[in-house]
Amino acid sequence: MPAAIRAEDLTKIYVKRRSLREMTLRPLGRAERVVALREVSFEACEGETFGLLGPNGAGKTTLLKILACLVLPSGGRATVNGADVARDDGTVRRSIGFATSDERSFYWRLTGRENLEFFASLYGLDASLARRRTSELVETIELQEVADQQFMNFSTGMKQRLAIARALLHDPQVLCLDEPTRSLDPIAAKHLRTFIAARLRREHGKTVLIATHNLQEAEEMCDRVAILDRGRLLRLGSVAEITSGLPGREHYVLTVAGLGEPPRDPRWTLLVERRDGDLARLLAEVERGGGALSDLLRRVLDGRGTIVSCSRREPSLQEVFDLMEASPGGEAGR
Ligand SMILES: Nc1ncnc2c1ncn2[C@@H]1O[C@H](COP(=O)(O)OP(=O)(O)O)[C@@H](O)[C@H]1O
Ligand SMILES: [Mg+2]
Repeated sequence: MPAAIRAEDLTKIYVKRRSLREMTLRPLGRAERVVALREVSFEACEGETFGLLGPNGAGKTTLLKILACLVLPSGGRATVNGADVARDDGTVRRSIGFATSDERSFYWRLTGRENLEFFASLYGLDASLARRRTSELVETIELQEVADQQFMNFSTGMKQRLAIARALLHDPQVLCLDEPTRSLDPIAAKHLRTFIAARLRREHGKTVLIATHNLQEAEEMCDRVAILDRGRLLRLGSVAEITSGLPGREHYVLTVAGLGEPPRDPRWTLLVERRDGDLARLLAEVERGGGALSDLLRRVLDGRGTIVSCSRREPSLQEVFDLMEASPGGEAGR
């Protein structure tokens, strides 16, 4: 399947503007630099729902803004349907829509429909086309019940939908959604996820890029995900690929009674998931073969622990994430 989005060694360094106070106190001081993305490379295919997953500050929004031509990259390159975001932004803008969860950009006293018609005119649609496109989207995005109410009376879920509708006004092939369910309650979030999967993806065949810090959401919606942390791409693949572990490593769940200090070794990463009185439940990512598992169990026994159970199990995405954080000098810390 052809690539809808391609990023190669994409890097973004923000130079923080210095305040007047800072410039007065330290006239020779240098502006602070923040590396928001470091040499990130990936491809998202046409029609794919691709997740950008990572905690706050990982660089998700920056990446989406670069793709939507709202921010210029500092290094590397990115293309949308083959057009370069830095050199051919006119073409890119026509094929991409960007929906943020920032509702301040709507006019609160206008109705949903009036808001959409206004933004359609900014996209250069003439009045009759703007009206037609707005009516279509009100149906597609299922906003019929609220479309003629003032935006300020919209529920958070409806505001999110209106933001998605706005991003679709020029009928782009690629849609970027920045934390679409962030401020929604679980039921509204579920509803929106189902809607994105059913209508945008299956019915309209859009390529959807979703930034989220919600692992369950990524697991449920995305064909593939890229895990970002502090601007670095840590893992890339389907959720199944990511949770089946790094090549050459496998996951075990151990229940240990009387666990002392968890043994450390470069051949494994241990995460104490729960302690319940004397019992501890551990998740372990262990080097395959070469006796690493035996050594781990021996070290637990030597520390006066008793192994109550030990079984191989594929972890959830959340557990993979926790393991990456727990790994000393591991991926998250590299
Ligand atoms: N306009 C900006 N100026 C300076 N630093 C910024 C700016 N925007 C984002 N950053 C910084 O870049 C990093 C990545 O931010 P962001 O892309 O918003 O991450 P995420 O969306 O994953 O939370 C953070 O450290 C953030 O503080
Ligand atoms: Mg963000």
